[in-house]
Amino acid sequence: MKTYVVGNWKMNFTVGEASVYLHKIQRKLPNYRDVAVIVAPPMIALQSLSLQVDRHKLKLAGQNGFYRDYGPYTGETSFSQLNGIVDYVIIGAGERRYTFGEDDKVIAKKVSAALRNKITPILCVGETESERAYGETADVLRDQVLSGLRDVSKEDVEKVIIVYEPVWAISSVESSKLASLDEVAEAVKFIKNVLNEAYSAKLEVPVLFGGSVSPSNAGAYLTVPGVNGILMGGSSLILSEFLDIIEIAKRVQR
Ligand code: PGA
Repeated sequence: MKTYVVGNWKMNFTVGEASVYLHKIQRKLPNYRDVAVIVAPPMIALQSLSLQVDRHKLKLAGQNGFYRDYGPYTGETSFSQLNGIVDYVIIGAGERRYTFGEDDKVIAKKVSAALRNKITPILCVGETESERAYGETADVLRDQVLSGLRDVSKEDVEKVIIVYEPVWAISSVESSKLASLDEVAEAVKFIKNVLNEAYSAKLEVPVLFGGSVSPSNAGAYLTVPGVNGILMGGSSLILSEFLDIIEIAKRVQR
């Protein structure tokens, strides 16, 4: 399986800045076959970046999308509109769930809409700090994985990428802490078991880790058994850090 490195730019960069930044990444990035590099720029920059991106080196992702294909949904962008522009879409990122109140039902519809429109969903799951403190991590992860994939058939499930993204470890969260390697190993193993049990198969679904990943800890997270890549926010905005992490992913590639 490839190692995935996903950079979520969140609400950063103007269209012009995003274009310059993509240009710099592409100039410096070698063409790695076994590391899949994906960047998720702001929605407003996607169309122009889709004309600029060198898809042999990296792919574009949306940060969100709406589950209906068209209609009176002011301010939304559908997966059918994203089709042809991006190859991936991040769904259920911590901020979508906890700042914008997206629930598992909405997230499940988005996962289905992405697949229907031939876009790979990158489904984020993760517990909050208090859920972890109350010992609810396993239940939360099981619920988020199973309800997010509620309408996904066995045939399609290996087209999905999952990210274990503990909310308390995301750098935008005020009290963010680093997840320990054991915590990541346990959660990733649990997610894979939940998937295998639900679909009664030994699935090849990539599970990534996200939460304050930086060049100083990326190597350690990437060597955690079961981790197939990383998703980062903050570090993806700094060219040298983003490239360093891709290089680390290449080195530790199994
Ligand atoms: P961060 O974001 O790398 O800035 O912590 C990660 C995430 O949103 O999952």
